[in-house]
Amino acid sequence: MSNRFYDTGAARSARVEELFGTIATRYDLLNDIQSLGLHRLWKRRLVRLARLKPGEAALDVCCGTGDIAFRLAEEGGQVVGLDFTEAMLSVARGRVEKPRARGDVGRPGATRSLHSPEFVLGDAMRLPFGESQFSVVTIAYGLRNLADWKVGLREMTRVARSGGRILVLDFGKPRNAIFRAVYFCYLRILVPLFGFVFCGNAAAYGYILESLQHYPAQDGVESAMRELGLEEVSVYNLMGGMMSINMGVKAGMKVIAKPPTD
Ligand SMILES: C[S@@+](CC[C@H](N)C(=O)[O-])C[C@H]1O[C@@H](n2cnc3c(N)ncnc32)[C@H](O)[C@@H]1O
Repeated sequence: MSNRFYDTGAARSARVEELFGTIATRYDLLNDIQSLGLHRLWKRRLVRLARLKPGEAALDVCCGTGDIAFRLAEEGGQVVGLDFTEAMLSVARGRVEKPRARGDVGRPGATRSLHSPEFVLGDAMRLPFGESQFSVVTIAYGLRNLADWKVGLREMTRVARSGGRILVLDFGKPRNAIFRAVYFCYLRILVPLFGFVFCGNAAAYGYILESLQHYPAQDGVESAMRELGLEEVSVYNLMGGMMSINMGVKAGMKVIAKPPTD
């Protein structure tokens, strides 16, 4: 039987929003537990690869509680974080006021950013921004959750300026069959168990494997980036491909159409 938060049809976005609304206040704790804190390193790697310069505009799509947005802001960027779950944004906004609650996701020693990120409510599949506005557009553990991840990637490309960097961090699919089987076992058994113990919700964490099985991960995202005409397309496999970062650079002058409004 499929996970109750996973829907292949029209209810997909509503289920995902319900899921993150349910776990928002425990989300950061569970991230640390299930990754043994390693998600902080993977997020730092993403931000390093983004090469954001002070004053440049950056958008973090599906920002959740704001880890990537805060880290980009520490680089001196003008950062917007966008998410469609109000409860996740509320945790992110609370972290603006309490820097210590941001933990150590950011660069060691960095305590204060020049500009706090702005957190806005919005849909990743209809970004409320005009074309070519951001030098960096990131998404971490978000693309896999979209009803149509290709639309999300196209939207990220549309709002990036020419030469802008587009980066996607998410669970990956290791090529090595044994490694992959062990990793999927971990996602099937231990991750929902942690969800049950620390959050009272096994299904919310069982959703990770279900959504990953329906997602083409690093190889599919790489192909889609090429189809969109991105340049310097590259894949960084972390932990043998259990996690991955896809990166591409928006080419000059190519016009990406906005999705129809209805
Ligand atoms: C797994 S969390 C990732 C949060 C954060 N990026 C991180 O790495 O910790 C996924 C986030 O994507 C958001 N999300 C999912 N679908 C979305 C959509 N269509 N538009 C905007 N946000 C979405 C959820 O609300 C949730 O906050």
